[in-house]
Amino acid sequence: MSKVKDPALAPQGELKIEWARAHMPVLGKIQARFERELPFRGLTIGMCMHLEMKTAALGQALKAGGATVTITGSNPLSTQDDVAAALAKSGAHVYAWRGVNPTEHHENLLRVLGHNPQLIIDDGGELSVAVHTELQQLIPQMIGACEETTTGVHRYRALEKDGLLKYPVIAVNDAFTKFLFDSQHGTGQSALEGVMRATNMLIAGKTVVVGGFGWVGRGIALRAKGLGAKVVVTEVDPVRALEAVMEGYSVLPMKEAAKIGDIFITATGCNQIITSQHFEEMKDGAILANSGHYDVEVDVKRLRELAASTRIARLNVEEFKMKDGRRLYLLAEGRLVNLAAGDGHPAEVMDMTFADQALCAEYLVKNKRKLEPKVYGVPPEIDKATASLWLETHNLRIDSLSREQSEYLGSWK
Ligand SMILES: NC(=O)c1ccc[n+]([C@@H]2O[C@H](COP(=O)([O-])OP(=O)(O)OC[C@H]3O[C@@H](n4cnc5c(N)ncnc54)[C@H](O)[C@@H]3O)[C@@H](O)[C@H]2O)c1
Repeated sequence: MSKVKDPALAPQGELKIEWARAHMPVLGKIQARFERELPFRGLTIGMCMHLEMKTAALGQALKAGGATVTITGSNPLSTQDDVAAALAKSGAHVYAWRGVNPTEHHENLLRVLGHNPQLIIDDGGELSVAVHTELQQLIPQMIGACEETTTGVHRYRALEKDGLLKYPVIAVNDAFTKFLFDSQHGTGQSALEGVMRATNMLIAGKTVVVGGFGWVGRGIALRAKGLGAKVVVTEVDPVRALEAVMEGYSVLPMKEAAKIGDIFITATGCNQIITSQHFEEMKDGAILANSGHYDVEVDVKRLRELAASTRIARLNVEEFKMKDGRRLYLLAEGRLVNLAAGDGHPAEVMDMTFADQALCAEYLVKNKRKLEPKVYGVPPEIDKATASLWLETHNLRIDSLSREQSEYLGSWK
């Protein structure tokens, strides 16, 4: 059972998935093992993730491991309809199409949970929040959940802090093989790509303001710098601000940065980063984009109220003409620009992230009933296994410690 935009788009989606899989050798190796060992036999896995080609490859790997897979998209603009159709054709239960409204999104979450999953793979905590608030009857059967992104981890930790979390959760986002590569290099490249695709503008010589210097923000800053931009960082954490200074970026409060920026990209996971006080200061032609999980970083509602008129200037670009004649351009409705205006992260980095997801889901099953209802970090052996497999599948070799070296490092003398 599935609900997608157009099943006839499947062949186009199959080509995309094939392309992703060709660049995801680590997940391919794990899938081959899953096919032999069937770790998810008899289980249903509910997923809420950006439904594009790499995610479909993960869904197929889990299905190869014996799972019934059911999935919805985690953002209204990140679902690719052809990929959704192809995944449905391959036997997953897919409830997703680009442009869902909030009611449809919620209905789709409930459709996924209607398959009674024992495992959840979330990107933003949405399925588990629905389980904890609306479908508590599913809790006794739940083995656990894996969470993909920083914002989702924040939500799960908040549930845990309030003593409400009912099953174990692995913060896959916090794996070294996730945030060092996917969050940093994946989002860094794909966010800039989203901006360039949407605007067709030159980055060199522009002032790019990056909101937040976390794993995502530093990746965006690095790629913008590499493309010849002058980069300004805004932060609230003094240590991260200091890191940005030492990396050679300017650091300013957003109120100051607003006056000089040509392109703004937020990546804080917080809300109200660019608001009316900043819109007032911005130059004519300023571009506004967000790469954080939710569309709360740019105050789009206020921007709409302040504008004298709006129009769609290009695909994924909305022009806001202000009362004084200045024009501000919002990309992809303020939703994550790399997925809404681009193809998301390159497959090579998602290979590591989704290897972590697959291995963490398997770990939850293997440790069923041994784990408490807590948010766990990714077991170090999974991080290491993913990194080793990635090196191996790219024909890269490293040294290993000799016995003498191990003894030296393990000695206090
Ligand atoms: N677009 C994508 O594909 C993608 C990929 C990974 C993560 N994300 C999302 O991006 C966001 C950031 O993730 P991260 O892993 O970099 O998080 P992080 O916690 O490492 O970094 C966030 C940074 O923003 C700063 N910050 C918080 N509030 C701020 C404010 N009001 N003004 C200025 N700076 C502020 C924090 O001090 C921190 O340094 C999250 O919402 C995450 O879910 C998106």
